[in-house]
Amino acid sequence: MKVVLKCIDCGEEFQPGAFYRCEKCSGLLDVIPDIAELNVSRELFDSRLGSREFPYSSGVWRFREMIHPLVEKRDIVSRAEGNTRLYRHEKVSAYTGIRDIVLKHEGENPSGSFKDRGMSPGISEAKRLGMEIVACASTGNTSASMAAYASLAGIRSVVFIPEGMIAFGKLSQALAYGAHVLQIKGNFDRAMALVQESSMEFGMYILNSINPWRIEGQKSIIFELIQQLEWNPPDWIVVPAGNLGNSSAFGKALMELKELELIDKVPRIASVQATGANPFYKMWKGKKDELDAVDKPETIATAIKIGNPISWKKAMRAIKFSSGVVEEVSDQEIMDAKAIIDSSGIGCEPASAASVAGAKKLLDTGVIDSKEKVVCIITGNVLKDPDATINYHLGKLKGIHPKFQNKPTVIDADLESVRKAVLG
Ligand code: F0G
Repeated sequence: MKVVLKCIDCGEEFQPGAFYRCEKCSGLLDVIPDIAELNVSRELFDSRLGSREFPYSSGVWRFREMIHPLVEKRDIVSRAEGNTRLYRHEKVSAYTGIRDIVLKHEGENPSGSFKDRGMSPGISEAKRLGMEIVACASTGNTSASMAAYASLAGIRSVVFIPEGMIAFGKLSQALAYGAHVLQIKGNFDRAMALVQESSMEFGMYILNSINPWRIEGQKSIIFELIQQLEWNPPDWIVVPAGNLGNSSAFGKALMELKELELIDKVPRIASVQATGANPFYKMWKGKKDELDAVDKPETIATAIKIGNPISWKKAMRAIKFSSGVVEEVSDQEIMDAKAIIDSSGIGCEPASAASVAGAKKLLDTGVIDSKEKVVCIITGNVLKDPDATINYHLGKLKGIHPKFQNKPTVIDADLESVRKAVLG
């Protein structure tokens, strides 16, 4: 099987190796297999559903040919990631005004976020290349995922996180799984720059979404979703957007499914940013050709608190290919949408709720029609950021009025007090 890394800007091709940019022009790289040689079909992927066989029990490796056709079974590091469920709830339909709205819960992955889907092929590639140390910059979830997969594979991991800016659940995971955690005195964008500078110097293999194998793994969100929908694509796929790896992966997945004639129509991608961290939204809205970084990104959704997203070019390609849109939502909209998702029994971390908040806004502004089928990607688990949830319900978030507050009640320890609290 021939697979090359191809520059998205100048088209130069390279043999796969431990580098992330074009040697000639510094452009980002795509993994390009020989599509005609892939020999895949809906029937092949359906035949692996429910399989107990390694690695096909994974919702990533079920699509092995389209994820990493080069790696041998012995180098695959997998925790049967993916296989995430779809949820429908009246409350979410009523809140957004969209009858047929479905949530795909990527927080059900082994480390609690969609990152595991890209990390599995990313760490497998590190093993294939014989790398001894892996590294990433992270707003939290990438570090949690990388730490887990690296330890599974017996590879050392180093994570660069912005000090004091990541949710506690995620920091605790990185420490627990055994990563070497470097707290950077600076924000995510600074950490991202530093990991690129130091990986060259110290031979660390980067597992951020600048690594094209991460993108390959995250394509499986789309493959699995469309398979779950009996190969009938929805009208819209709405996704929270930070460093823009997912938006990029979704576009590449749809391009490949179309080229292989595994789908008849291309759903529209809507990427949703937080208003305080919205460089991609501004670029799209202003019809610009280049991204202007936001210097001091600010949002309660710390996972997407990013001012200079690495993958903006690939993400713009995805929006254009799918006739998609880019939207922004405020922290108030994010936290209210989260309260709706949470109280439907589904639950998510703040950044994830940007998808549902975005879908509602796109309906309100007439971009999405109430009769269309909309899938919102829920990117992370509700337990990732307990502080945000508790402070919302206690009314302690600055500048946010909790519309759907659920405050604990303190009572005396006697029957009468219980009666008053429950029935009164
Ligand atoms: N949702 C969650 C829960 C995330 O953790 C991230 C990104 C995103 C959405 C945005 O996805 O970057 O592909 O556009 N988290 C990264 C991290 C940056 O370091 O964990 P994206």
